[in-house]
Amino acid sequence: MCGIVGYVGPRAVRSVIVDGLRKLEYRGYDSAGIATLDSGVLRTVKSVGRLSNLEEKLADGEAGGHIGIGHTRWATHGRPSDENAHPHQDCSGRFAIVHNGIIENYLSLREELLARGHQFKSETDTEVVAHLIEELYKGDLFQTMLDVAKRLRGAYALVVLAKDHPDTLVAVRRSSPIIVGLGDGENFVASDIPAILSYTRDVYVLEDGELAVVRADGVSIHTFDGEPVAGKKVLHVTWDAVAAERGGYPHFMLKEIYEQPRAIRDTLTGRIADDLSRVTLPELSWSDDFVQSMDRVHIVACGTSWHAGLVGKAVMEKLTRIPVDVEIASEYRYRDPIETAGTLVIVISQSGETLDTLAALRDAKARGRHVLAITNVVGSSVAREADDVIITWAGPEIAVASTKAYTTQLVVLYLLAVYLGQRRGTLEDGTAKQILAALAELPMAAEQVLDTAPQVERFAREWADARDTFFIGRGIDYAMALEGALKLKEISYIHAEAYAAGELKHGTLALITEGVPVIALATQTDLYEKTLSNIKEVKARDAFVLGVTFAGDEEMRHSVDEVLYVPRTLPVLAPVITVIPLQLLAYYAAVARGNDVDKPRNLAKSVTVE
Ligand code: F6R
Repeated sequence: MCGIVGYVGPRAVRSVIVDGLRKLEYRGYDSAGIATLDSGVLRTVKSVGRLSNLEEKLADGEAGGHIGIGHTRWATHGRPSDENAHPHQDCSGRFAIVHNGIIENYLSLREELLARGHQFKSETDTEVVAHLIEELYKGDLFQTMLDVAKRLRGAYALVVLAKDHPDTLVAVRRSSPIIVGLGDGENFVASDIPAILSYTRDVYVLEDGELAVVRADGVSIHTFDGEPVAGKKVLHVTWDAVAAERGGYPHFMLKEIYEQPRAIRDTLTGRIADDLSRVTLPELSWSDDFVQSMDRVHIVACGTSWHAGLVGKAVMEKLTRIPVDVEIASEYRYRDPIETAGTLVIVISQSGETLDTLAALRDAKARGRHVLAITNVVGSSVAREADDVIITWAGPEIAVASTKAYTTQLVVLYLLAVYLGQRRGTLEDGTAKQILAALAELPMAAEQVLDTAPQVERFAREWADARDTFFIGRGIDYAMALEGALKLKEISYIHAEAYAAGELKHGTLALITEGVPVIALATQTDLYEKTLSNIKEVKARDAFVLGVTFAGDEEMRHSVDEVLYVPRTLPVLAPVITVIPLQLLAYYAAVARGNDVDKPRNLAKSVTVE
């Protein structure tokens, strides 16, 4: 977690850094800080809380000069506080560093450095790095950072500013992401592209084990052995800076919910043949042998991406008849999964930087598995390390709660299931055509379902004071229930539980009392009658039931208190549509409760720690 920005060049460093940190606040926002070097004075200003606190603290004329580093933090080691905020400094005050990641051997390093007389001001793992630099420094900053990297274990993106080197920043990467923005007579360092997009579109993405020496007039990239990296490719960013801004919506989350028709369309574009007869995924150059020998799929992901995987399992098993397991990445890593030579591992990650997922990917590759990544971020760690990548073209997702990334992940999973089903001969052409035609109509259906927003807003207002809520459904609707409950929990802080509707009677029904809101999803035709019976069970306990079903279903009206109708599509595709009112429900409940919708408490967008 955490966001880093660094700058060297003719501009006023303070505004470049504060501006960049604002774009990175989604990476963490419990404290922020800046270190600048001006007329030989290295000065650090830090503040607990949001970036605005730091801005208030920065007196006029402070943080001047033309070189500096900044940081926005999500606490791992040490609570949020001024002392624990980055940048951290050594005893002599000659170095300042910012860090994203976790230094795993910090305790032993700390003891070693304490024994050598270093005094620590914070509880962080990061501060040991500043002291280690001081300890190892003999006048050559580049060499010092190579030596420091050799002593550190764990995940880190580090940037150092040194008093004796007023024209140089050094950035180091192992596991945690860092990019270098290439300007004209100025250069930038950042955890992510939006931070520097107002200034440049050309970037180097540092790989694991690379170090960048960044000056206003040039950048050089080296391995941890000190060798220059030959032929480093410049990535030219094509998306627009305004795409990462709120664009008139009160919150990023609402903007991203409303972007879903576009995001779904972009993700489908070019991937379905004009005559709707087949899927084209040119990014997969899989031989017939490879496709036929596939005998298991393991889908690995976290949170909302894991929920997408649950839908993926249902669809892939149905269309390809390959057994699919869906695993939470942090569990998968520590299991001994049963795999065959023909097991395909699919990792799903919006950010492409989630450490649990990335580590699972690496473990799978180390075991010789073929890994396909489904991610939203081109050039992310997951995208670079997987064997194959399918990008979800959702565009930058800034709100912590994932919305458009989820629906586009589903779209990719549908395309993949049809693709594999057709190539393996388990899916008839007629059925494939029917699914592809319905997929092509999803952007329109997503547009229509957004019209339910006023109705959903009314429910959300009425339920904003609820203590507990329940989401129930069967089959794919159960996977949806899980996602609906997670959305509500994470931004409204209302307790929400998702239950397979048929399972309620085995315990949870005891919690259903008068007026408890229950959201019942009933889009799966083959399970409809059964779900209706389960709805009656909760109605009999006086719950208030909101039924979610396809337009035209009149029967539902007689069984629930209110019905929310969504445009009809194939039941298998229902999640793409039904999730949208559930996202809106969570959004409006959070707004009604006065919560910080885009930055819910205790959470961060990109979880780059285990
Ligand atoms: C919830 C949410 C998280 C993420 C999870 C994985 O709204 O966004 O549960 O889905 O942290 O993140 P990615 O997909 O970036 O790997």
